[in-house]
Amino acid sequence: MSLPEVDYIWMDGQLVAWADAKVHVLTHALHYGSGVFEGIRCYETADGTSAVFRLTEHMQRLERSARMLMMDPGRDVATLVEAVKETIRANKLKFCYIRPLIYRGYGVMGLDPLPAPVNTFIAVWQWDTYLGQDALKHGVAAGVSSWRQRGINSTPPAVKATGQYINSSLARMEANKHGYAEAILLNEEGKVCEGTGENLFVVRNGVVVTPPVSDGILEGITRDSVMQIARDKGIEVREASLVRTDLYAADEVFMTGTAAEVVPVHSVDGRDIGDPGPVTLGIQSTFFRIVRGEEPAYDAWLERV
Ligand SMILES: Cc1ncc(COP(=O)(O)O)c(C=O)c1O
Repeated sequence: MSLPEVDYIWMDGQLVAWADAKVHVLTHALHYGSGVFEGIRCYETADGTSAVFRLTEHMQRLERSARMLMMDPGRDVATLVEAVKETIRANKLKFCYIRPLIYRGYGVMGLDPLPAPVNTFIAVWQWDTYLGQDALKHGVAAGVSSWRQRGINSTPPAVKATGQYINSSLARMEANKHGYAEAILLNEEGKVCEGTGENLFVVRNGVVVTPPVSDGILEGITRDSVMQIARDKGIEVREASLVRTDLYAADEVFMTGTAAEVVPVHSVDGRDIGDPGPVTLGIQSTFFRIVRGEEPAYDAWLERV
């Protein structure tokens, strides 16, 4: 699979031709995983305009991730928000996936990153839903990983740093080798955390439950959106710790993330959960109506390009 190329990538304030958007092999982040990033989606709305879903919140999370790693990109959130829009406009895209990344650049080596320069780029490309259209409709098979989520006092799951994703990749490779579309990670205490790039929800007796941030998850923006959508529908939502058997006993399980969107899970570890249920499908369809600009009550989540 190759990336669908576009014309420009924004690098440190300049639009650079896709083919020229390169870094030196001695870039600090390449050696030590010292980068923080976001995944964001821009959707084409029903009136033909393009809108980025919760762009400012994503850039605020990026800024928080950078701050936690003591990286100063030298640009504030408003400037980065504008740079994302400029990049989409320059590439004449109606819809796209957006990948901003702040990283330690070229100049020094060694494990103290502070002397290394900080660089930023914003790339955009057209990316279909991450787990596939069939997954959105029929759900995916997930498996609990033998790899554990990193503890909150290890490389913290709340920071969206590039190096963190080694763990996700180990879990995802294992899941795929075992025939699952996605992995579910438990923390060292056996509490359910999340997928490799998605948050996780279970539905039981009409109540929607998702693990709390303190169990070691990334505080997903789709997760936050879905909790609000569910509450607006009058569904009870709880943030509470879950264990493996809560997955098996669930009436419905689904995952959320910018790349994957809202994906039903039809089985966990070979235990059948069943076809996507009414709570999952109701939330999923409202989510897609919102991103297409068909739910005026949620218009504040759409930032027009
Ligand atoms: C580990 C992990 N958990 C959860 C999520 C979902 O977060 P969001 O909904 O903000 O994309 C992501 C994706 O960014 C992720 O990488």
